[in-house]
Amino acid sequence: MTGKLRLGVNIDHVATIRNARGGVHPDPLRAALAAAAAGADGITAHLREDRRHITDGDLDRLMEIDLPLNLEMAATEEMLGIALRHRPHAACIVPERREERTTEGGLDAAGQFEMLRPFVDRLQSAGIRTSLFIEPSEAQLDAALRLGAPVIEFHTGRFAHVMGEEQVTELQRIADMAALAAKNGIEPHAGHGLIFDNVAPIAAIPQLAELNIGHFLIGEAIFTGLEASVKRMRAMMDAARPSTPRSNSGELSLGIDRR
Ligand code: PXP
Repeated sequence: MTGKLRLGVNIDHVATIRNARGGVHPDPLRAALAAAAAGADGITAHLREDRRHITDGDLDRLMEIDLPLNLEMAATEEMLGIALRHRPHAACIVPERREERTTEGGLDAAGQFEMLRPFVDRLQSAGIRTSLFIEPSEAQLDAALRLGAPVIEFHTGRFAHVMGEEQVTELQRIADMAALAAKNGIEPHAGHGLIFDNVAPIAAIPQLAELNIGHFLIGEAIFTGLEASVKRMRAMMDAARPSTPRSNSGELSLGIDRR
């Protein structure tokens, strides 16, 4: 592992704007290429059950460009079939409720352990690097570990929405869980609700390998252009990053009751 923090740009909301009118503009594929030119290491897209932003056709086209794609997907047979057909570089299993505006919380990997197991197994067997989008908690991390996921992504929504002491506590929780994940051989990522004003302390957590950021970057692009918004985020992440390589060492260990 190197200490470089990767940036995955989520282009879903380019498709949201396109879909407001139908047609082809703005094109999420063009956004993916612009994001990569500006320093994104990969592209993230969430094919939702209701196709409210990215569509199957977008996914076909995103698979044709030479950029690692992280496909966010619900644990359903339909999405599994699509993932296995396309074989993206990575898949991130997320909770999904049709009526929600966005992914409001992490996956309950502990509570849905048996349901999730075949999804992780089948994605992994197909060579798709599988992650679980979870809250930063020991119970969820323990479940991810027992499910055999090589990667987890911590939901930073709570960190992004609380303030003051509460935010400090949440940041510490994410940092502790990132250290614990790395110590247990899982690569920790993070995302949701990250913006210029809050990305630095998250980017400074040395064990995090990747941040996935979408809504803010696309919104900011209205004012500055997508390349400028991605470049600025990239620069802020790099500036916040400690110069020492990411470490797996630490004194924490999971107090797992391995049932
Ligand atoms: N990571 C995951 C797993 C997500 O589902 C999302 C979108 O909800 C993001 C990252 C990006 O979140 P945002 O659009 O708030 O930056």
